Amino acid sequence: LPIPAPPHHSYFGLLGHSPDLDSTLPVKSYWKFMDEYAPIYQLDLAMEHPRVFVGSRELVNEMADDSTYIKFTHRLHQEMRPVFGDGLFSAESTDKAWWKAHRLLVPAFGPIGLSKMFDDMQDLSAQLVLKWDRFGPEHEIECIEDMARLTFDTIGLCAFGYRFNEFYSKEPHPFMKQLKESIVESGKRANRPDIVNLAYYRDEQHRQDNIKNMRELCMKIIKDRDEHPKPDAKDLLNVMLNGVDKETGEKLGVDNVIYQIPTLLGGGYETTGATLCFIYYFLCNNPDKLAKAQQEVDEIVGDKVLTYDMLRNLKYLDACMKEALRLQHPVSLLTRFAIKDTVLGGKYFIKKGQMVSGIWRHFHRDPKVWGEDADEFRPERMLDVNFKELPPNSWKPFGDGLRACIGRGFAEQEILIHIAMALQKFDVKKVDPNYEMQLTGQMGVKPVNFKIRVVRRKDRT
Ligand code: HEM
Repeated sequence: LPIPAPPHHSYFGLLGHSPDLDSTLPVKSYWKFMDEYAPIYQLDLAMEHPRVFVGSRELVNEMADDSTYIKFTHRLHQEMRPVFGDGLFSAESTDKAWWKAHRLLVPAFGPIGLSKMFDDMQDLSAQLVLKWDRFGPEHEIECIEDMARLTFDTIGLCAFGYRFNEFYSKEPHPFMKQLKESIVESGKRANRPDIVNLAYYRDEQHRQDNIKNMRELCMKIIKDRDEHPKPDAKDLLNVMLNGVDKETGEKLGVDNVIYQIPTLLGGGYETTGATLCFIYYFLCNNPDKLAKAQQEVDEIVGDKVLTYDMLRNLKYLDACMKEALRLQHPVSLLTRFAIKDTVLGGKYFIKKGQMVSGIWRHFHRDPKVWGEDADEFRPERMLDVNFKELPPNSWKPFGDGLRACIGRGFAEQEILIHIAMALQKFDVKKVDPNYEMQLTGQMGVKPVNFKIRVVRRKDRT
C-alpha cells in the first residue's frame, strides 16, 4: 500500500513539506500530521529522502527491531561528528569504538557505579536548594536555567570529576554555551545543502572555535587526571581512561575519551533538566499530587539528611517522574534506518536505507494501555506497574534496544535526589498561575518561560 502523505505546500514544491513545519518546534507539526494520518505518513523534507513517521505501538515495535533497523548516522549525526566524534551518541553501531565504550560504560552506569555517585549528586542538589532558600520566596526561578545548571554540574562532577560550578556565576560556564551553540549550528548545517553551507563560513568559523575551546578543556581534564591520578575517584573518568575492554583487550584511547565528555554532557543535561521542569509543572498544576509527594518525603526523609537507601522507598516520587516522562518526554522521536527492504505492518513497503521515525506522543497516550484518562497526570497509575507486562513500547522515554539511553539510571537517581531535597524544604508554585506549557527544540524539547517560586514550608525551618 502507498504510505499516505499530506499535500505539498503549493508554492514550495522543491522544499517539500519543510515550509509546513513549525520552525521552533518541528515535532509539533509531526504530532499534528499524526493526528490526521495515524498510524503512518511520510513527508518530503528538503535534504532528506522521504521520511516515514509511525505512531502506533505495533509499528514502532517493528522498527525498534535491531535486526531490521539500525541507528545509522544520518546527515544530522554527520554534522554532529565534529562535536561528538566517535563518542557513544554519534558513532555507528558497527563502529568498534562504540562497542568498546558501550561495554565499558554500561556497568559503570549500573547500580554499584550509581551508588558511588550519590554523595556528589546530593552535594550539587544541596547547593541549588541553598541558593533558592537565600533568594527567598519572591525570587522568580527560570526553571530550565536552574535545572540545566544542576544537571550540567552533576554530569561534570560524577562523570569527569570536574566542577563547572554553575551556581557561582551569573552566566553559565563557557563550555555550556560552546556546546549549545555548536549543537544548534550543526543542526542548521544539516538542514542546508552543502553548497549553501559554504556561504555561512563565519558561522562555521565560530563553530570550529567553539569545538576547539571545548576540546582544550577536555584535554585539560584528562591531563590533570593523568598527572594527578585519583585511584579512589568515584567518577567515570578512571573507567574511561584505564578500563580495559574484555573483548578486545584494548583501552578507549584518549581521543575517544575526549569525545565522550561533550557526548555525555550533550546527551544528559538538557534531557534531565527538561524532565525536572516537566515534573515541577505537573506537580504545580496538581496541588493534591504535590501534597502527596511532600507527604511521602516527610515520611521517608523527614528532617533527616537524604540517604542512598531512602531513594528506593520514594515510590510516589518515582511514579511522578515516570508519569511526567510519559506525558512529556524530552526526546520525541525514535529514528532508525532500514538495513534491508522490508514491510511495515504487513502492508507498507520500506526500502533499504529508508529513514523511519516513531512518534512517542501517540503511543505514550494510547487509551488501550493507559485508559480513557491517558492525557491526565495521574502518578498513581505508575505505582506498581510492571513494565514487562505492558504491551511493548507503551512507555519508552529512554529509547529502545541496543542504542537505548545509557544514562537512564543516572538521570533517574539525580531527579529523585533533587525533587526529594526540594520538596523536603519548599512548597513550589508557578509564577503565573495561568501558564501553560510551551515547548521549543529541534532535537530534544524543553519548556519556554516556565517560571516557579519556592516558599519555605511552614513546618520546616
Ligand atoms: C541515548 C533519552 C539522560 C546519555 C538516549 C536515547 C534517548 C535518551 C531516547 C536514545 C536515542 C536514540 O535511540 O536515538 C534520555 C532522557 C534522559 C536522558 C529522557 C533524562 C531524563 C541521559 C543522561 C546521560 C545520557 C543523564 C549521561 C550522563 C546518553 C547517551 C546516549 C543516550 C550517551 C547514546 C547511547 C548510544 O547510542 O549508545 N537518551 N536520556 N542520557 N543518552 Fe540519554
